[in-house]
Amino acid sequence: MSSLSDSRCLILCLFSLVVTYTLRHISHQIHQRQVSQAKGCKDAQSKAPVKDRFIGLDFIYDCLFTKPIEKYLDYTYKTFQQLGSTYVCQRWTWEATYTCDSRNIKHILASGFAEFKLPRLRVNAMMGLLGSGIFTLNGHSWSHARAVLRPCFAKQNKEDMVSMLETHFQALLRRIPLGGETVDVQPLFFWLTMDFATHFLMGHSTHVLDRASSHAKEKQFVDDYLTCSTEIVRKMQLGPLQIFSFNFGAMRARSRVFKYIDDFISVSLDKEGENDDATNSGLNVLQGLAALTTDRKQLRDQILHILVASRDTTACLLSNLFFVLSRKPHVYERLRQEVLSVAGTEPATSNQLNSMEYLKWCVQESLRLHPVIPTNAREASKDTILPYGGGKDGNSPLLIKKGSLVMYNTYAMHRDTEVFGPDAEEFVPERWNGLRPGWGYLPFNGGPRICIGQKFALLETHYLVSRMVQTFETIKTNKDTEWVELYALATTCKDGVNVSLKRA
Ligand code: HEM
Repeated sequence: MSSLSDSRCLILCLFSLVVTYTLRHISHQIHQRQVSQAKGCKDAQSKAPVKDRFIGLDFIYDCLFTKPIEKYLDYTYKTFQQLGSTYVCQRWTWEATYTCDSRNIKHILASGFAEFKLPRLRVNAMMGLLGSGIFTLNGHSWSHARAVLRPCFAKQNKEDMVSMLETHFQALLRRIPLGGETVDVQPLFFWLTMDFATHFLMGHSTHVLDRASSHAKEKQFVDDYLTCSTEIVRKMQLGPLQIFSFNFGAMRARSRVFKYIDDFISVSLDKEGENDDATNSGLNVLQGLAALTTDRKQLRDQILHILVASRDTTACLLSNLFFVLSRKPHVYERLRQEVLSVAGTEPATSNQLNSMEYLKWCVQESLRLHPVIPTNAREASKDTILPYGGGKDGNSPLLIKKGSLVMYNTYAMHRDTEVFGPDAEEFVPERWNGLRPGWGYLPFNGGPRICIGQKFALLETHYLVSRMVQTFETIKTNKDTEWVELYALATTCKDGVNVSLKRA
């Protein structure tokens, strides 16, 4: 008797589940149709070929067994050339839209900002290893975090920053062979930006460039940080399959990274204002944050997220730029002449850097051709649209269903010949003379989530590039390999930057 009523109960439960699911599904469909009609949406004509339209087994197979595409960014660019600037990849279980159309990107990042959020996949991958900070927050928590961080950057004194940079630049110089032997400057740039970022963030540098001292704890931190960022990239590449992956080594590295930063936080809160590194006491972001909150977990998460934002990006920009400069002696020569004519051989002031037009063009051109964040994504937080991509000609709005992804690609957008000219695939700094690409050029993102550290990053890069060209008369390479990306949290050169630098 009781087993009969149990099975009746089970059937009733299953029945109500199916009914609820069906009703919800119908209601979603009705809502999507209403949005689509109200906005005049048309179906996308351009679709990526998929083998399994149902659950995406081909995607799962590719993730698990296929080797990553060697020149992934070029591959994405060519796909846009074949399929158009906006296309969809449709499956029954999930749907993603790919775009390099600046009008759509402007919509995701600015005019339609409230209808998109950071993708769950990115949030989960980053949060597991870096805690919850500005790179994983949405909505009110994000605007609060941004409001807290902004003043810490606004307060930065440029001349203090420049003199702090000079200390680390001198450490970098000591690593470059005096006799002009070939050296890979890419790891040196990564160490320099780590030394500088930890210095301005926490008032204590990792000093990994400094050969004189052992700094075992700092070196361990740098290794652990690398383990964590590599694991984040791996998880993001796994997409929805990331829930099945667990890496004990990365978890141990994460605990050590947390402990390393927690120790600084304790020191910062206890000392209230003193810096371990005597120089540049006004520049410690941790102390600025600690004045606003004493919640140690919040402080650690914020610091770690800014470290990720600031360190790899700037190192990648320097590496990508010097990779190209070593292959373009005429550009290097013009750049060097400009810096010498404005600042001579003395370290430039921030005002002098500001007046160096060609220097700015070179940096802009590097960020155009090799953007360090070349692809990005947002998830629709409600049924919404992209203004272009629908209909035969792609000029009608396109419905984007709640929860689906829009992947935007600045690498491809920065190669638009209508904006940048027929030689858009070449490195030509002179093109920036009078060029105003607006939303067609987005190395730092745009809209409310635009990079907080843009001015900071540019000052850092301009200063370091100016010091390099003052110090070295020529930069050469005996390799004529083309630039191939190393796709990580930020994108840099796969084969390093092996150059010979001749001192002036
Ligand atoms: C060449 C150097 C840099 C580049 C190309 C760059 C680029 C970007 C991009 C594309 C984003 C948007 C990410 C997204 O919303 O998905 C971003 C966000 C951010 N960047 Fe940068 N960045 C650089 C350096 C820096 C530096 C030096 C700092 C800090 C000192 C910094 C702090 C931030 C922060 C805090 C965010 C998050 C903003 C938010 O979500 O509201 N960045 N950056």
